[in-house]
Amino acid sequence: MTAAGGASVREGAALVRSAARLRGEPRLPGDKSISHRALLLALLAEGESTILQAGDGEDVRTTAAVVARLGATVQRLADRDGRVDYRVASPGRERLAEPETVLDCRNSGTTLRLTAGIVAARPFFAVLDGDASLRRRPVARIARPLAEMGATVAARAGGTLPPVAMTGTAPLRPIDHATAVPSAQVKSAVLLAGLGAEGTTTVRETVATRDHTERMLRARGVAVRTEAWGPDGAGARVSVDGPARVAPAADVVPSDPSAAAFWLVAGAAHPDAELVLRAVGTNPSRRAIIDLLRRMGASIDETPAGGTGEGGDGEPVADLAVRSSELHGIDVSPREVAAAIDEVPVLCLAAALASGTTRIDGVGELRHKESDRVAGIATGLAALGARVAVDGDTMTIDGGRLLAGAVTESLDDHRLAMTFAIAGLIAGGETAVLDAGCAAISYPGFFDEIERVRA
Ligand code: S3P
Repeated sequence: MTAAGGASVREGAALVRSAARLRGEPRLPGDKSISHRALLLALLAEGESTILQAGDGEDVRTTAAVVARLGATVQRLADRDGRVDYRVASPGRERLAEPETVLDCRNSGTTLRLTAGIVAARPFFAVLDGDASLRRRPVARIARPLAEMGATVAARAGGTLPPVAMTGTAPLRPIDHATAVPSAQVKSAVLLAGLGAEGTTTVRETVATRDHTERMLRARGVAVRTEAWGPDGAGARVSVDGPARVAPAADVVPSDPSAAAFWLVAGAAHPDAELVLRAVGTNPSRRAIIDLLRRMGASIDETPAGGTGEGGDGEPVADLAVRSSELHGIDVSPREVAAAIDEVPVLCLAAALASGTTRIDGVGELRHKESDRVAGIATGLAALGARVAVDGDTMTIDGGRLLAGAVTESLDDHRLAMTFAIAGLIAGGETAVLDAGCAAISYPGFFDEIERVRA
């Protein structure tokens, strides 16, 4: 295979040609964060839970397999267009099974960190491991608070990297934990452990992160208290009283706003585009990308979905309509980076296609995702002809250049693969995305949608 410039392209690459126009309603996966939590909370709840329209990407399948390993019966009822309906029957939190083998969390940080919080509160031994990417991702941030609560936790590289070996205990000691970096995964791990502690467990974060765990626990009968916290009130203090019983639930998962983000950028930045995204989760702690793109000049109309705009678990949902817009550069603060943590790669693409300069401050945490996303996005966008500078934790992107098709490296990171594919719809000629199959981590069928919207 050859692509732009005649460079040879490896097996597993996707070739994306520039599109004359973009129209239609791209099919979206169910929200990945909510799907993971629905499965894990179904494991904690004695009885039968149903989860409709979950994301059917590799990461959510990984969580489903881990939930089965810990003693629940997980049934796939139906799957269609990258979504799946599950029925989960569980013996409940107090009767989870000690796993006989390693819990393989594959590429999924959310699976590893949230499951660690659950097994910390059970009096058995469990080892959590993953693929080469996951083994490079930090775990001290969960190992320390869970050890402080009374679990015995060991991990590679002086307790900092997976695999993680734990012997849990019941009951755990409640703690009051201030997270070192804003992280919904750490907050959720500690709160899930707190369900098995004797007393009140509190997590403080200086920037409030996605609050799905809190909303979904409340919807399952657990009293979770949240107050504004921190010097400027932008953080949160979240508490749960243990031991707490989690009730089974019936969930309908909204469309994933982090997947919708790719189409919001495609629709706003392409010169002839009109795209509609249905029933997207617009939880205030997840919608930052919509508001950042609007600040850049994107025309995005938002209509409450299904009349009320109320999805399951009290999650707001909306239909979004985006059309070609004149984008301009903006300044993005560290707090906004934390709120749009998974959308920063595609936001960088929007910045490259906008007029003027975009400065994004506080991108350090992006180095600890499925790949070093700071390096990956800077290299890929530069290959496409964009001007990107990285200085410490600040990225500066000078927009306004026409991008030209090139060979880009996904680094086996789903969000980079999809960002470069969207770039390929807009850049002149043809763009190759190497190792593009990783898009199925969060968005099965993504490349089919790339072809559908250009029709
Ligand atoms: C997630 C939290 C974020 C995010 C990840 C999903 C979650 O990670 O990047 O894709 O579902 O809680 P951190 O909590 O590590 O920032």
